[in-house]
Amino acid sequence: MPEPTVMEKIVSLCKRRGFIYPGSDIYGGLQGTWDYGPLGVELLRNIKNAWWRDMVTGRDDVVGIETAILMNRTVWQASGHEVNFTDPLVDCKACKARFRADQIDESQCPRKPSKKPGEHTDCQLTEARKFNMMLKTTLGPVEESGQEVFLRPETAQGMFVNFKNVCDSTRIKVPFGIAQMGKSFRNEITPKQFIFRSREFEQMEMEFFCHPSTSLEWYATWRDARFKWYKDLGIKSDKLRLREHAKEELSHYSQGTSDIEYLFPWGWGELEGIAHRGDYDLKQHMQYSGKDLSYFNDETKERFIPHVIEPAAGATRSLLAFLCEAYEDQKIVDEESKKEDTRTVLHLHPRLAPVKAAIFPLVKKDGMPERAMAIYKDLQKHFPVFYDEKGAVGRRYRRQDEAGTPFCLTIDGQTAQDNSVTVRDRDSMAQQRVACDKILLYLLERLTV
Ligand code: GAP
Repeated sequence: MPEPTVMEKIVSLCKRRGFIYPGSDIYGGLQGTWDYGPLGVELLRNIKNAWWRDMVTGRDDVVGIETAILMNRTVWQASGHEVNFTDPLVDCKACKARFRADQIDESQCPRKPSKKPGEHTDCQLTEARKFNMMLKTTLGPVEESGQEVFLRPETAQGMFVNFKNVCDSTRIKVPFGIAQMGKSFRNEITPKQFIFRSREFEQMEMEFFCHPSTSLEWYATWRDARFKWYKDLGIKSDKLRLREHAKEELSHYSQGTSDIEYLFPWGWGELEGIAHRGDYDLKQHMQYSGKDLSYFNDETKERFIPHVIEPAAGATRSLLAFLCEAYEDQKIVDEESKKEDTRTVLHLHPRLAPVKAAIFPLVKKDGMPERAMAIYKDLQKHFPVFYDEKGAVGRRYRRQDEAGTPFCLTIDGQTAQDNSVTVRDRDSMAQQRVACDKILLYLLERLTV
């Protein structure tokens, strides 16, 4: 058997430890859909909470909203998605397989996987045609075209259509941003690379409205701030890069876009796009809705249509990047047996780690479980913790290493004498004694960095 690739190991760990399962697993799955297990849901929530704190509640110039996934169909006509949100597709009339025209070179012929589509003598490829990636559904009891709506393919339009509502209902003034996080849906033809390209996924987007004269400055500010965000949460700089789009690569609305890319095990992939959208969206919605979405600055008495800078990130996609970055099969000397060994560890940033600390009684006697349980119950009021009394303590450490838990607390014989516990650091495996009444402070200082 060949050694599994890093990606195979990560996918296996995700299922085994309850980070990510295939969607509808017991029915054979549904391509492009994924379910987040007990550890995965915490990790995803921590990523979103970190983004919300850094982008919304930690700032004075951004407000948050949460808008409906189903929107009036005209929104997608105005935004350009009904016409432009397409992938070029090629069908094979012989085997009925469908390929993205721009990815033929990376695809396999289903009849002969060693060849590309079109290379086998039986292949009958059609010309490329446009295929709209929005998923359609029907509202109301009758399936008639007037009731057709789309599941949103991005969260961004929710912010544009509420620009006036936010201006009218808050005191916020341009320059300011509106942010939201939530589900988006795309009928991806080739969902691939685990959760990287899914049909249902989560985005974290912010639309920053500013005066046209300051838009280039804001574009640079947000591009740099967003790049730093990933670095601060633990992604090393040699695996992270900024890539400016060439003119012919730009989306229909964009005057300039930079992608933040991560070096996944299979190569570079986009985590987030920072786009200068100009006044495209507000103008389109003014035209299609007939509403005035211009902004009046009551200090300068100027009326203008703001320009928009959009940092658009994928929550689920960045989760995959954080996992890939954190994963390590590390050669170590075992803490108990002192023999050479390999441990699997997720070096997740403490802000992102699903469980912040695990609490172990060294043995199940001498009052240790009771003391450990009291500490566990106390810490549980503040953040997610885990209690484990089963098996050798070395094995318990390993299980927590795999889950990315930054600290393990062991209650042992000394605890009864001096009221202290051993705190073991996940990354260095170093241990130190900490007084029981200082544990909360000790952990809080290290978890919120
Ligand atoms: N409002 C602009 C917009 O949606 P995008 O580049 O299409 O821009 C933004 O999407 C981010 O959403 C991407 O950088 C990526 O992280 C994430 N994303 C897009 N399609 C995805 C998919 N099929 N699966 C997972 N994440 C996806």
